[in-house]
Amino acid sequence: MEKKIAVINGDGIGPEVTAQAIKALNAIAQEFGHHFMYVNALMGADAIDKTGNPLPDETLAICKQSDAILFGAIGHPKYDNDPTAKVRPEQGLLKLRKELQLFANIRPITTYHSLHHLSPLKAKQLVGVDFIIFRELTGGIYFGKRSLNEDQTIATDECAYSKAEIERVAVMAFEYAQTRKKKLTLIDKANVLETSRLWRKVVQALSGQYPDVTVDYMFVDNAAMQVILNPAQFDVLLTENLFGDIISDEASVLSGSMGLMPSASVGNGSALFEPIHGSYPQAAGKDIANPLGSILSAAMMLDHFGLGEEANAVRAAVNWTLTHSFVSKDIDPINNYGTNAIGDLIADYIKRNAKSAAAHNAELNASTII
Ligand code: IPM
Ligand code: MN
Repeated sequence: MEKKIAVINGDGIGPEVTAQAIKALNAIAQEFGHHFMYVNALMGADAIDKTGNPLPDETLAICKQSDAILFGAIGHPKYDNDPTAKVRPEQGLLKLRKELQLFANIRPITTYHSLHHLSPLKAKQLVGVDFIIFRELTGGIYFGKRSLNEDQTIATDECAYSKAEIERVAVMAFEYAQTRKKKLTLIDKANVLETSRLWRKVVQALSGQYPDVTVDYMFVDNAAMQVILNPAQFDVLLTENLFGDIISDEASVLSGSMGLMPSASVGNGSALFEPIHGSYPQAAGKDIANPLGSILSAAMMLDHFGLGEEANAVRAAVNWTLTHSFVSKDIDPINNYGTNAIGDLIADYIKRNAKSAAAHNAELNASTII
């Protein structure tokens, strides 16, 4: 298979974690006979520094011409602490999501046995925790009208949703639920918000088309509590943009480290894959960042290409590093490995194991012939 991948390193630890995901992709390409071409593009604070624009036109063009986008991280403290800044790195990502119509952000929440001790939850509450969040990504309060009155004392952010916007992401979540435990939970604030009531109506109407999926509805304040009290109850969560942003960060701590959580943002065209962690500027260039979020995002990219076996080969390599404690500082502050070393170990594991799997298959074929 031939694929063109736009690579946006972005800010902070973005470049170093993305480099490890590329090592994993290259190992997969080599072992499974694929050809991945990479084209670099700028976005975020890095792009503002170099071009004055958080999303240069060239980047948008490169992304539109690619099969997928691998993205590192965005954000820089010099903008976070300046509410008057006219351009912000995050504007680049928001514009890219909108331009590419990446309306569904998919965040799997997986827990690993070897990391249970790192989770703020007791180990027994983590048993059976495996759910996935579908967050609407191109609507709601993130993209509504904003205003600030003349004397700068009143600000507004409008939250608007159309039936069509809700339906397209809900359909994706329903279809995905059909491949899992067949349970979908809509998170909203329908006791207060009109947009939430529309979400409920649309999801209720759609549910008739998915009789095998059980749907339940949960107010976001309760959901925030349930994610911590009883996370094993969830299978597929569906929610609007802002609630999804908050709930997914909250849920990410269940695994023990946000550094290993991946995500995919998909629409109708090329899709974007990024770890959910931020740019972690304090760690930039120190070779201490956890590359697993980016590497697992590359696995999601492979799934998106229809390369399930390859995606599983990457996940198997990640599991192997975790069970053998080849982990970064966020996971083990005393005995840890550098970002680069973990990337190398994962690429090597993929190469070694793809070969032994191939040898195993060859043996089987030989014995069939005999
Ligand atoms: C995320 C991030 C972004 C968001 C920021 C960087 C704009 O927090 O991808 O979750 O709020 O969507
Ligand atoms: Mn976020």
